[in-house]
Amino acid sequence: MTTALTPPLSSRLPSVGTTIFTVMSALATEHQAVNLGQGFPDFACDPQLVDAVTAAMQAGHNQYPPMAGVPALRQAVSAKIAGLHGKTYNPDTEITITAGATQAILTALLAVVHPGDEVIVLEPCYDSYVPNIELAGGVVVRVPLTPGTFRPDFAKISAAITPKTRAVLINSPHNPSATVWSRADMLALQDVLAPTNVFLISDEVYEHMVFDGQAHESASRFPGLAARAFVVSSFGKTFHVTGWKVGTVAAPAALMAEFRKVHQFNVFTVNTPVQYALAAYLAHPAPYLELPAFYQRKRDLFRAGLEGTRFKLLPSQGSYFQCVDISDVSDLNEADFCQWLTREIGVAAIPLSAFYGNGFDQRVVRFCFAKQDSTLQSALERLKTL
Ligand SMILES: Cc1ncc(COP(=O)(O)O)c(C=O)c1O
Repeated sequence: MTTALTPPLSSRLPSVGTTIFTVMSALATEHQAVNLGQGFPDFACDPQLVDAVTAAMQAGHNQYPPMAGVPALRQAVSAKIAGLHGKTYNPDTEITITAGATQAILTALLAVVHPGDEVIVLEPCYDSYVPNIELAGGVVVRVPLTPGTFRPDFAKISAAITPKTRAVLINSPHNPSATVWSRADMLALQDVLAPTNVFLISDEVYEHMVFDGQAHESASRFPGLAARAFVVSSFGKTFHVTGWKVGTVAAPAALMAEFRKVHQFNVFTVNTPVQYALAAYLAHPAPYLELPAFYQRKRDLFRAGLEGTRFKLLPSQGSYFQCVDISDVSDLNEADFCQWLTREIGVAAIPLSAFYGNGFDQRVVRFCFAKQDSTLQSALERLKTL
């Protein structure tokens, strides 16, 4: 009898291990720490949204939807972008519903990147970008955001563009730094890209979390960017349903046609009743128009509570993150500090070094304030001892 042996596998992502989010969440559970690490709300979504999913299921919307998404949802998304940003995407040919932003970004990369093409990411960056580029056979080109301010350095971005550059990935409001790109930033990017054939993947999942009266400057607002851009968003972030994994991509028809070729043979379609529910829910703009005020209040509550600590607070212009400089609190590096904070103080945070390929340590950690006030208060009571 021969023994059944599993053949050896050569990893396509040899440097990918367990993510810091999983590690910190497990540690938080082990030490009963308040988890301000992973970015997800600990409060319920609007019950009307849940009712709308139930209603869609009861109405029989339980089979495959069209490949690109339920038409009513694509129409609602198109109308929303037109209303907010003055750019009309054709819902039939220029909008696709995806299984969250993560799938949207991977699919956009698979659609445009050929083996050996270079793709620019601005570090620190969301953890899926680099492995996604590698899966597409691309070469990752890392350009740092300016340490301290996390502002884009357009001279550096411009210098990183070569004849092999296929795409640039940007993210505003930004995870993890909570910075927001201004109109001037977007215009500068438009100028840098104007003489090139480089595509833009604009990760705008925190589009409705921009504070202090600032506007979200979507790539769709800038004709020179929109013409080359996949604009990505996520209902999970906007409507407090990160587990639903439903997102959107808007792009010019020629780019979307290619995107859909990959989407079709990757996920094919995204679950039907949730799409119907979101289409109905989008008829009322209040939930997303009120989101900046909702999160700004939580940001202010959290920041006010941290004022008495030795943490130095970085600005939080958008997203649901607050970064702090730990250098007056501890001599530990970011990762060790986060472990210590979880074990000894009982609050989990994420080290910014996790968002850099080389683990660059600038003594800054990230807290997520998408939490109930009571969760934030109990975290603050613990942090006030520092
Ligand atoms: C910057 C950024 N992009 C994309 C995502 C993923 O979004 P989704 O859950 O819709 O895949 C996240 C989630 O944390 C994020 O922070």
